[in-house]
Amino acid sequence: MATAAVTRPECRTSPTAYGALTQHFAEHPEERPEHPHKWDVSRSDIYANNTWHPIFREMREAGPLHYIPESPFGPYWAVVQHKAIQHIEALPEIFSSSWEHGGITILNRLSEEELAETGVDRRELPMFIAMDRPQHTGQRRTVAPKFTPSGMAEMEVEIRQRTGELLDSLPRGEVFDWVDKVSIELTTGMLAILFGFPWEDRRLLTFWSDWAGDTELATVRALDEQRWGFLHEMAAYFQSLWVERTHDKEPGDDLISMMIHSEAMNQMRPEEFMGNLVLLIVGGNDTTRNTMSGIIHSFDKFPDQRKLFEQDPSLIPNAVQECLRMQTPLAHMRRTCTEDTEVFGQQIKKGDKVVLWYLSANRDEQVFEDPDKLDITRENARRHIAFGYGIHRCVGARLAELQLRVLLEEMHKRRMRVHVAGDVERVRANFVHGFRKMEVEITEF
Ligand code: HEM
Repeated sequence: MATAAVTRPECRTSPTAYGALTQHFAEHPEERPEHPHKWDVSRSDIYANNTWHPIFREMREAGPLHYIPESPFGPYWAVVQHKAIQHIEALPEIFSSSWEHGGITILNRLSEEELAETGVDRRELPMFIAMDRPQHTGQRRTVAPKFTPSGMAEMEVEIRQRTGELLDSLPRGEVFDWVDKVSIELTTGMLAILFGFPWEDRRLLTFWSDWAGDTELATVRALDEQRWGFLHEMAAYFQSLWVERTHDKEPGDDLISMMIHSEAMNQMRPEEFMGNLVLLIVGGNDTTRNTMSGIIHSFDKFPDQRKLFEQDPSLIPNAVQECLRMQTPLAHMRRTCTEDTEVFGQQIKKGDKVVLWYLSANRDEQVFEDPDKLDITRENARRHIAFGYGIHRCVGARLAELQLRVLLEEMHKRRMRVHVAGDVERVRANFVHGFRKMEVEITEF
């Protein structure tokens, strides 16, 4: 592959988003957001402390969706039942994903005035997850071929080999952090391969993804500037890769090259191209990582189910679906209503923010029997909506499923049993739902 000389930008990997936020709140406790409404599920402490279950249960019992008039993110509709989320996601013209209306998380995009006030360059990178039809359709179509069943079959050999090597390298008879050593390493490694991202820099992907996906963080003005600084570094790095690959005589089979040499992407503005790269990196990172940690946590909490998995590896594909349901690594997605409408008897006004709580839908008693229990033989585990629903349903779902299946298969081959053996620290955020740290120890079954 002929490579043009391109200077790669210097990028920082500290401080971590979480460390910076913790320090900021320690210095300014008065800035911690307050949540006066008892059903305001935008509060991140309930995810950090794992106390969200009874709140969502009460809300589901009371109805499919509720208006929350007051929150640090402004008023919003909390959609908590499975059927209501599917209903709303099936109406993308009425419930828009577009960043022009506010985007896809509970955090509002800043207005032009606010942007001018802050003096920080916060120009959004356009990405197809935050677009409506018809732009969404064309851009999604460009990357979708990488995730077909045949595309996945090509990647499986490499993913299996890397997963096996990593599992073989894990310490025995000592406590270590599963999140750092396994979940992060496997996920960022897979993305680096998918994009042809320089291997030695792969932890940058983790760092950027942490800053980009932290909506709680962005509520803190001071840190938001830092956050945007890192995101601009990320854009500059991808720009250098893009320029480099544009000069390649023979296009490689990595996703960046594929996008550059595809017809639809040729017509895309550079910032759109960049935005979509960032979407794939961030979209594939925290999510798969947190399911890999969630599997270990769920098996540890439900040892009867771990035993079943150990006795019968043919249950692995269904176990993957059940663990996705239990973990639900993205707690919500957001839509904005484009015309006055009625949903299950509630009047939603044009401009209203509508937040779809997948975390709650995946515990909906009307769909899943005994929903707080891990059951790897559950017949309808596949009905979870951890990947969303409708035209925006996760384009990387097959890749995520492949990685998770291979991880369980390779653990099974090695007769590896993983116990939680120390500190478990959860992410303090209302969007990414997962684990920051999980101390474990390996034994055999
Ligand atoms: C969209 C979850 C892995 C790339 C989404 C959505 C969710 C989601 C909830 C939005 C769906 C909606 O609005 O209806 C997950 C979970 C994953 C995962 C739980 C892993 C367990 C991945 C991977 C990639 C990826 C591995 C790629 C490398 C994307 C993209 C979109 C998306 C590009 C936008 C799709 C669109 O707007 O059409 N994902 N994701 N995701 N995901 Fe994933």
